Amino acid sequence: MTAEISFMHPSEREFAELLDYYRIPYLYEPRSFPLRWEGNRVVEMHTPDFYLPEYDQYFELTTMKQNLVTQKNRKMRHVQELYPEVNIQLLYRRDLMRLMGKYGFGPLADVTDRGTERVLFSEEQIQARVKELGAQLTEEYAGTEPVLIGVLRGVVVFMADLMRHIDLPLQIEFMEISHYGEEREDAIEVLRDVTTDLKGRHVILVEDIVDTGLTLRYLLSHLDGMGPASVRVCTLLDKSVRRVADVPVDYIGFEVPDSFVIGYGLDYGGRYRNLPYIGVLDLPEPKAVAQR
Ligand code: PRP
Repeated sequence: MTAEISFMHPSEREFAELLDYYRIPYLYEPRSFPLRWEGNRVVEMHTPDFYLPEYDQYFELTTMKQNLVTQKNRKMRHVQELYPEVNIQLLYRRDLMRLMGKYGFGPLADVTDRGTERVLFSEEQIQARVKELGAQLTEEYAGTEPVLIGVLRGVVVFMADLMRHIDLPLQIEFMEISHYGEEREDAIEVLRDVTTDLKGRHVILVEDIVDTGLTLRYLLSHLDGMGPASVRVCTLLDKSVRRVADVPVDYIGFEVPDSFVIGYGLDYGGRYRNLPYIGVLDLPEPKAVAQR
């Protein structure tokens, strides 16, 4: 479908391709919202770029300068006032580039090694928090033998530390998934599945980070099909500011801002997983990226 649409802007096509990879159905500019009338004539309206029916969510993409964005924001607020039932969100160029870069699209896909811009959580802070999470799980799962399922690869460091702070009998499992299924109809592909029988078991799904929540949404429905007694999610990092899918997250180590984070298992281009702390990747300014 994407190939046939004439998009107004290249970033819209990139966004559409990302949605295709995730097999998220979308409509391009499906509806205009009248904002101002003169008599019966509509003199101002707003047409959001994308609509995602599965999420009942409109997205407006912007690559504009800050002062124009302010106008756009005002317009969107106006839409909200007149159509309060409509969910609409503005996606900035920076957000888009990060999202694209993460999945190998767009200018950030080519960014070379930049290192850490600043430390978000030190080794000590992480260790203390992981210990707390382990104690909480020990208490809440007392009397059971949970199965911890880690989602490779970012989770390995967190998983290794967390399990040593859970003072209960338990099993561990790992799943590996790919966002680049060769068959387009399988955007998220399970490369390695759980081999333990999960029927009647209490499952703790362990993640290093929940970002858009799309991976988690897929995994939860996948695991649900295996008949576990319960499934809860424990993530070290939660970037809830960028959530697209409404997924439950039961245990959270730290909330993170909308920055590209690396270290303690998290990578950029396969690197930085071995950092003992969590840092923000030093990304070039949007302007510099655009010139590539
Ligand atoms: C990370 C993380 C989650 C996913 C979350 O994995 O481990 O599985 O991203 O992102 P989402 O909420 O936007 O779906 P990544 O794809 O970076 O792979 P990795 O663990 O091998 O580094």
